[in-house]
Amino acid sequence: MYASSVWLGVGAWCLASAGAFAAAGSFTWDRNNFYLNDAKYTIIGGQIDPQRVPREYWGQRLQMAKAMGLNTIFSYLYWQDIEPYPGQFDFTGMNDVAAWHQAIKDAGMKAVLRPGPYVCAERDWGGLPGWLNQIPNMKIRSNNAPFLNASAKYLAKVGEQLRDYLVTNDGPILLVQVENEYGYVGNDMNYKRALSDALFAAFPKIKQYTNDGASALKSGYLPGALSVVDGSGPKNGIPERDKAITDPTSLGPLMDGEVWITWFDTWGPKSGHAGAADASGDIDWMLSQGYHFSIYMFHGGTSFGFGGGSGGGSPNPITPFTTSYDYGAVLDETGRPASTYSRMRSAIAKHIPASSIPAIPSLPPLQSIPSFPLTPFAPLFPTTTTTPTNPSDTPLPMEALNQTFGLTLYTHTATTSSSGALTLTNGPRDRVIVYVNGARKGVLDGIYRRPATVNVALQAGDVLGLLVENLGRVDNGFTDQRKGVVGDVAVGGRVLRGGWGHVGFGLGFGGPEGGVLPEGEGGDGVVVREGGEPVWYKGVFANGKEGMAADTFLELPGGVKGVVFVNGHNLGRYWTIGPQQQLFVPGAWLKETNEVLVLELEPKPGDRVARGLAVRTWGNNPDPDCNGCS
Ligand SMILES: *[C@@H]1O[C@H](CO)[C@@H](O)[C@H](O)[C@H]1NC(C)=O
Ligand SMILES: *[C@@H]1O[C@H](CO)[C@@H](O)[C@H](O)[C@H]1NC(C)=O
Repeated sequence: MYASSVWLGVGAWCLASAGAFAAAGSFTWDRNNFYLNDAKYTIIGGQIDPQRVPREYWGQRLQMAKAMGLNTIFSYLYWQDIEPYPGQFDFTGMNDVAAWHQAIKDAGMKAVLRPGPYVCAERDWGGLPGWLNQIPNMKIRSNNAPFLNASAKYLAKVGEQLRDYLVTNDGPILLVQVENEYGYVGNDMNYKRALSDALFAAFPKIKQYTNDGASALKSGYLPGALSVVDGSGPKNGIPERDKAITDPTSLGPLMDGEVWITWFDTWGPKSGHAGAADASGDIDWMLSQGYHFSIYMFHGGTSFGFGGGSGGGSPNPITPFTTSYDYGAVLDETGRPASTYSRMRSAIAKHIPASSIPAIPSLPPLQSIPSFPLTPFAPLFPTTTTTPTNPSDTPLPMEALNQTFGLTLYTHTATTSSSGALTLTNGPRDRVIVYVNGARKGVLDGIYRRPATVNVALQAGDVLGLLVENLGRVDNGFTDQRKGVVGDVAVGGRVLRGGWGHVGFGLGFGGPEGGVLPEGEGGDGVVVREGGEPVWYKGVFANGKEGMAADTFLELPGGVKGVVFVNGHNLGRYWTIGPQQQLFVPGAWLKETNEVLVLELEPKPGDRVARGLAVRTWGNNPDPDCNGCS
């Protein structure tokens, strides 16, 4: 689909003379070098996580990696998407980890697997499934039987998928990572050993490594696993490994497991976008020293749906990560080279034979789509609130409702009058829009250092509605990461008990109502009121292009905050505060006629439109909900 020559199956190349291929492959090392099938192998790596890239584009992203001179792809796997409910595994679509490694093999490249259970990655809870919260005595990332049991089951399933892709079976996977930057948070050797055993059971005979920041190498290392440092500034970082680690079983070639190119973005009216930075000098230096590396991120992609996590957290404000995981990466969110690409390529080309680097495939620009109307289609809330759905005496956290992502509407019918500030025992998790009888009273949000106060006055029979949005679990959070309402709700200090109802909007990610999207003709009688309830809008646009030539950035002028679907794909969140101002729409997901569904959480009367831009912008707007907050 993209205009380029196809050069699959070129085969792996090595810096030194290529060894004869054995029937079963081997990957080993001595103090200074890696050996693939007994020939010296330099890892010139970059990270792409398949679960942030449309599957239709996997091959193109790998071509771009190879055309920059990379020979090895590092990938995190996100457990939460692979096992969305306990024991229910999904290896389809972007979770098809076998197909991903087949694509790497087809590209003639090698792979380093970073399967978790915990991966950080600016992912919701670092990739851990939200349902872990519901298992009694669970203690994540610890020598804890419930955690290790659940992890071992997940790893075993991934292992079944990847059996044919291990180097020992002549596949591309050379190495498997144990934990992820564990040295920052602990040094429990029993935990690391138990996890290592589970990984050996899942990926038999595949060599392992640990990956830690320079200051945490000693606490993170595991005897027998290669110790690898990560981070920016490899000139200072790489030599730290041999100062920190003395155990010869963890010493070997020096590698920067994550050369941080720049940084991720967080939502906020003052949060900027981290643009591409030039790390070509570091790359050149590492190759000249005979060191190994992986660029983080070579290509970041998109946290489609609700995949983005957050930083910070109780008692500090949370800082949710944007839908875009562009990361200022070498290959931008859409798979096109950033300004740094050619400099990186030149730096690598100094050290390897020119014939081993293919030409850069040419790529079409993105398309623009003229403005098209968005018309009110359906209300979000159910029309009858007289009988509570999923009733209980006290509000239940999202996970207790079998919901991991999205929004939950909590309803409470007052039996007596109360008035004053609305408070939640454990604060907003993470963003609470407060309604009384369908009229919006204000917003409480965990992104504010000093939250706003929302005052309400309830009479008997009034219906209090709390629409609670999960903005992403803290990616390295050890504290309670349950979402929704956790604890009690009080008005004027008076705890509201009895008559609570719950409606889940998983929006494609499950929940008590299954996250169903509105269907049918719609439109009739949907009234958009100032300060009213959330509304679904619908729009249709035509497209005459294919593949990457159909890619576009969807912009929603006048929108405050919400979620967008195109042809049933949850593209993720938009939020006027920025810095992200458009959502990436992969052309591969478009047809001739395309349906856009927009859930606007804070609708205003008046005409709405959407349009597609060929060139994106980054920027911020004031937060319309920060009334008395800071
Ligand atoms: C699960 O945990 C129990 C202890 O609670 C332990 O006896 C059992 O061996 C564990 N199973 C696995 C598969 O790790
Ligand atoms: C949770 O929801 C999933 C998906 O609808 C379902 O398969 C599973 O049985 C549910 N679990 C419970 C405990 O209700």
